[in-house]
Amino acid sequence: MCIFAYLNYHVPRTRREILEVLIKGLRRLEYRGYDSAGVGIDGGNSKEWETNSKSIHLIKQTGKVKALDEEIHRQQDVDLDVEFDVHLGIAHTRWATHGVPSPVNSHPQRSDKNNEFIVIHNGIITNYKDLKKFLESKGYEFESETDTETIAKLVKYIYDNRESDDITFTTLVEQVTQQLEGAFALVLKSVHYPGEAVGSRRGGPLLIGVRSDHKLSTDHIPILYLINNVICVFDIAGKDKKSCNTLPRMDEDTCLFPVDEKAVEYYFASDASAVIEHTNRVIFLEDDDIAAVRDGRLSIHRIKRTAGDHPARAIQTLQMELQQIMKGNFSSFMQKEIFEQPESVVNTMRGRVNFENNTVILGGLKDHIKEIQRCRRLIMIACGTSYHAGVATRQVLEELTELPVMVELASDFLDRNTPVFRDDVCFFISQSGETADSLLALRYCKGRGALTVGITNTVGSSISRETDCGVHINAGPEIGVASTKAYTSQFVALIMFALLMCDDRISMQPRRREIIQGLKVLPDLIKEVLSLDEEIQKLAAELYQQKSVLIMGRGYHYATCLEGALKIKEITYMHSEGILAGELKHGPLALVDKLMPVIMIIMRDHTYTKCQNALQQVVARQGRPIVICDKDDYETIKNSSRTIKVPHSVDCLQGILSVIPLQLLSFHLAVLRGFDVSLFSTRLHLTF
Ligand code: UD1
Ligand code: M6R
Repeated sequence: MCIFAYLNYHVPRTRREILEVLIKGLRRLEYRGYDSAGVGIDGGNSKEWETNSKSIHLIKQTGKVKALDEEIHRQQDVDLDVEFDVHLGIAHTRWATHGVPSPVNSHPQRSDKNNEFIVIHNGIITNYKDLKKFLESKGYEFESETDTETIAKLVKYIYDNRESDDITFTTLVEQVTQQLEGAFALVLKSVHYPGEAVGSRRGGPLLIGVRSDHKLSTDHIPILYLINNVICVFDIAGKDKKSCNTLPRMDEDTCLFPVDEKAVEYYFASDASAVIEHTNRVIFLEDDDIAAVRDGRLSIHRIKRTAGDHPARAIQTLQMELQQIMKGNFSSFMQKEIFEQPESVVNTMRGRVNFENNTVILGGLKDHIKEIQRCRRLIMIACGTSYHAGVATRQVLEELTELPVMVELASDFLDRNTPVFRDDVCFFISQSGETADSLLALRYCKGRGALTVGITNTVGSSISRETDCGVHINAGPEIGVASTKAYTSQFVALIMFALLMCDDRISMQPRRREIIQGLKVLPDLIKEVLSLDEEIQKLAAELYQQKSVLIMGRGYHYATCLEGALKIKEITYMHSEGILAGELKHGPLALVDKLMPVIMIIMRDHTYTKCQNALQQVVARQGRPIVICDKDDYETIKNSSRTIKVPHSVDCLQGILSVIPLQLLSFHLAVLRGFDVSLFSTRLHLTF
């Protein structure tokens, strides 16, 4: 999940100092969550690479950075006092997405047993299976389960098949990135290019910090384009090519370096928090930039030029404090994770939903889908927010699978000794994959012969390992105790499952297309809802001194009511209750009067008229509900004293949009009630 690399050029550093910088860099990134870590440094002593017998040493460990540090100090054959005048060290913390957390799956990943090329990588290479197959057919042997290993092997393949011996490290990486699909930020190191670093990104952040006591050659690093095998730069207007044919590749017009060849240090990182203590001068790379440091000079390359490309990357001065960078502009991880949802839902769908031909592929279920289609019933079992994801998607699952669907709270399911049969399929929905009741329920169902399916965010977790198959939701680590982005990603994952279940049903195709096209625009709609933040903050200011909030809705939005009320209880310590609007007249209506804060969710789906009736009942008791509704529902807007207007989506996806205002509301209520939301950042999973 986090990249950190350190290159010292004519700045003598002992191996101990280099490792300290790397470990400290990783520690600064620990807040992002990870499950294993590793470093790659030069082996031998400093003179060895000068005499051309080079080697790279890898140290990797499962668990915390502390465990890696201890592992480093356990290494018998690593002389920590050797000094390097020039050296590149790369380091990484990994959040497992491909294969369980283990030293062999940790980064750096390597090209071969001699560590000729090593790489650290954030993101997901979606075509890694094809690349792996190709490389295996060429005799390359894989040792890990990661997608990242294909990158290291592919560089070596291109290097082994080079046409000319003077091929540069940059060219190799350029050729590799052209073959990669998916998202990545990466940094490579090689025994063939000692003291050189190459980094690139597409869809994942990567920046470079520069530190030197000497004047730097430029404050704008021009982009070098390779056009018809000639290196070119463009002027600021972006129109005229400058001295194409004659351009030397490494002068002050083309790269950054300290004038007079003096000492310089470079820090590559996926996040500014790892760099800020060393330097505040940074260059943020853009997608498809390839940044290379060679002989202490930093150059930036691009393969293709598109209209509007800026011809240079500026060195920027970071004004931020460390604390600030770690959470970005957000005051807590909960807030940060709420605002990450436009990206996290994309990550859940990445490589799985094809919006062009309206297909869904879930690699984790493909060997079991026929068996699932033949089952007698689906049972979704989970706790808390994850249970609500089951409630939210139950209806669309029933519709698209035409199977009976039960949704169970794991604790209650266990208390009841619920009958489970061999032809049942049991889903275990869990962000952490470690929640004790869900895990016990999983073992219970397995013992009764049911097929078990995990919907988890944590690769290598107990639920992910112990289920027969499943779907990793790939929302990224959720650090805030209040689950937010995991909920919307679980929601999306379950929808993808429902779509997969009916992909060969001709009668379902129009509905499938409608939902898939709804998923396509979902990230933009989430952004639109997030733009209501200020309005919701104002609403929170009106509500925060109240004792209780009732949240009412039905159909697709009953889950939203439960989830909104849980968020409010959990972090604001205020009473809140999610009420099924159809139950109002059976008791809860008694709570409503002109003083009781009520939030109602009314959307334009098959429950619309019934929800309007509920609204009338509340108003008749002098309630003045705040209504979360479709922004084009003029009828409701006209009849309500207060509305929160969200964009329209397909009925079964609308719950993703209706829950976000409540996530924001609970956050603002907590802040206004004086709770430090940033303290809610550890998870308790043991819910015996
Ligand atoms: C794999 C990659 C994923 C990438 C996708 C695209 C892994 C771990 N994942 O995803 O990052 O986007 O290819 O090519 O390599 N499983 C369980 N229980 C669970 C969750 C998963 O048993 O709770 C199993 C699955 O059945 C599967 C494996 O774990 O065998 C990986 O699952 P998942 O990551 O969802 O698979 P893909 O979608 O193929
Ligand atoms: O890790 P899990 O999804 O299994 O956790 C289940 C619940 O403990 C969890 O969703 C909890 O309800 C949330 N923290 C609420 O915000």
